[in-house]
Amino acid sequence: MMPLTPLTIDEFEAIARERMERSAYDYYAGGSGEERTLAANREAFNRIPLRPRVLIDVSQIDTRTTVLGQPLALPVMLAPTAFNRLAHADGEMAAARAARAAGTIMIGSTLSTCALEDVAGACEGPLWFQLYVYKDRGFTQELVARAEAAGYRALVLTVDTPLLGRRYRDVRNNFVLPEGITMKNFEAAMKSMTSAARWGAHSSFSAYVHDLFDATLSWTALEWLRTQTRLPIVVKGIMTEEDAHLAVSAGADGVIVSNHGGRQLDGALASIDALPEVVDAVAGRADVLMDGGIRRGTDVLKALAFGARAVCIGRPYLWALAANGEQGVSDALRILRDELSLAMALSGRPTISSIDSSLVQRRPPVG
Ligand SMILES: Cc1cc2nc3c(=O)[nH]c(=O)nc-3n(C[C@H](O)[C@H](O)[C@H](O)COP(=O)(O)O)c2cc1C
Repeated sequence: MMPLTPLTIDEFEAIARERMERSAYDYYAGGSGEERTLAANREAFNRIPLRPRVLIDVSQIDTRTTVLGQPLALPVMLAPTAFNRLAHADGEMAAARAARAAGTIMIGSTLSTCALEDVAGACEGPLWFQLYVYKDRGFTQELVARAEAAGYRALVLTVDTPLLGRRYRDVRNNFVLPEGITMKNFEAAMKSMTSAARWGAHSSFSAYVHDLFDATLSWTALEWLRTQTRLPIVVKGIMTEEDAHLAVSAGADGVIVSNHGGRQLDGALASIDALPEVVDAVAGRADVLMDGGIRRGTDVLKALAFGARAVCIGRPYLWALAANGEQGVSDALRILRDELSLAMALSGRPTISSIDSSLVQRRPPVG
């Protein structure tokens, strides 16, 4: 029997698996290739031992922090994920409201199924906007201008998707968006777009990406984006010290260490294993976030110990949204907050600033 209120993120996944259409569940759950990187994101966390300290007053635990100077009640944000209405009719609007209620920030995806303005209107709280750069730069500029006008507080440029990773589950399921669910940010631009942009029943998602995303993108794109916006820019999809240096040199205010939840290059290392070298390379010049495989409060603790300012969750909030809409996402964030608070207490780290690299072995052990 499934408990009525899930106690863990994994229990939310079990409910979502039962509730969702198989092809939609697979689109959320799946990774690329043989899903090695997807699995590695979890396995790597399991390999990292914690070094708890004792006899420290932990009667008051404070999970508050800041990212890009913006306050967060807990160091867990919602990662940008496409097509939230596959999980629940209220889609991104419900997720953004839950994020706001928990005192954190959602990063809205370019490929959302509620318009970015509607998400901003529904949540009335801070939001960031994730940007994919389209071959049509005019259209891309328009998205940036709309996000600014709607009050988004940062732009997150995703740089790991020049093409879409090969996701066999979606190919086998012939995954398409169901009737009535569309990429809402594109409605106004529909008329001027090619038929592939009106992605729906007739072409694959990867054909959409391959037709429209700009695979020529290089570091000059960051300079270009700087000229388009006054918002802080966060580069998402950095996995090496080399690229961390380039991102900071190009003026990034933040970077997100991410392998796209194991959905792009299969065989890429786990995000948590890439984090230490990126933190070293950035050397405090920008905020470093990470995502990929966060399922427990102790995972958040480990990422912070390796130098992340905050983490983002993708699938965990999608499972919760599918299980119980806005309330589900609120419950998932509460579970992670409670687990993190307890782990902070039991490891003798009552504040976020007291979490340092001595809590984990400097490099995760190999094997
Ligand atoms: C269903 C799904 C859709 C996603 N869509 C996007 C997207 O539109 N833009 C983006 O930058 N990343 C996207 N991602 C990647 C997430 O932002 C994030 O990197 C990843 O989910 C983190 O791993 P986790 O699911 O283990 O938490 C997506 C991930 C999933 C699972």
